[in-house]
Amino acid sequence: MKNLDFIYNRKSIRKFKDIEVQEEDIIKMLDAAIHAPSPKNQQTWHFVVIQNNELINKIADIVTKNHINLAEMAKEEKQRKLMMNLLSYYTCFRNAPVLVVVYSKEYYMVEETILRDNNASQDIINELKFPNSAAQGIGAAIENFLLAATELGYGTCYMTGPTHSKIEIEELINFIK
Ligand SMILES: Cc1cc2nc3c(=O)[nH]c(=O)nc-3n(C[C@H](O)[C@H](O)[C@H](O)COP(=O)(O)O)c2cc1C
Repeated sequence: MKNLDFIYNRKSIRKFKDIEVQEEDIIKMLDAAIHAPSPKNQQTWHFVVIQNNELINKIADIVTKNHINLAEMAKEEKQRKLMMNLLSYYTCFRNAPVLVVVYSKEYYMVEETILRDNNASQDIINELKFPNSAAQGIGAAIENFLLAATELGYGTCYMTGPTHSKIEIEELINFIK
């Protein structure tokens, strides 16, 4: 039987050692990521690798500030507390040696263009776009990245929590689509 340990050994890790991750290992993880299946092979991904501890922690500060602001919107204290309980899960990359921010490009669907040309209703267009193929492709790539990291001996955590701060993060890291 083939060994599938890299599948079963992957677990979300939320505390990181202060070690340098070898650049060649990061490249191996990225290479694994971009070998993922991709809708219509459009490879709608961008990976931004951040190894600057100060920058990583600034991003964690932004996520913290915005998350507290969102939690303050809760009318009931119980709800606010529930929101605040999530904070550590959205900022656990603080002090990690590497943060990889993953962006999606626009996924082009020729069917959408044709249907719009033929006055299809918004309901039909919405149905077509419902699977959010770009996000699915990104998810496949991230999973490949995580599995490669596991096999190379690194701990990782897949995170979407911080995306409520995407605009500020984009500005901070100067990401241009
Ligand atoms: C799409 C996605 C988003 C996630 N977002 C977060 C997150 O923001 N913060 C976090 O701590 N974990 C996040 N996780 C990790 C899950 O909590 C974790 O995978 C799940 O609890 C199962 O644990 P395991 O990964 O150790 O098997 C996310 C996982 C996925 C697939």
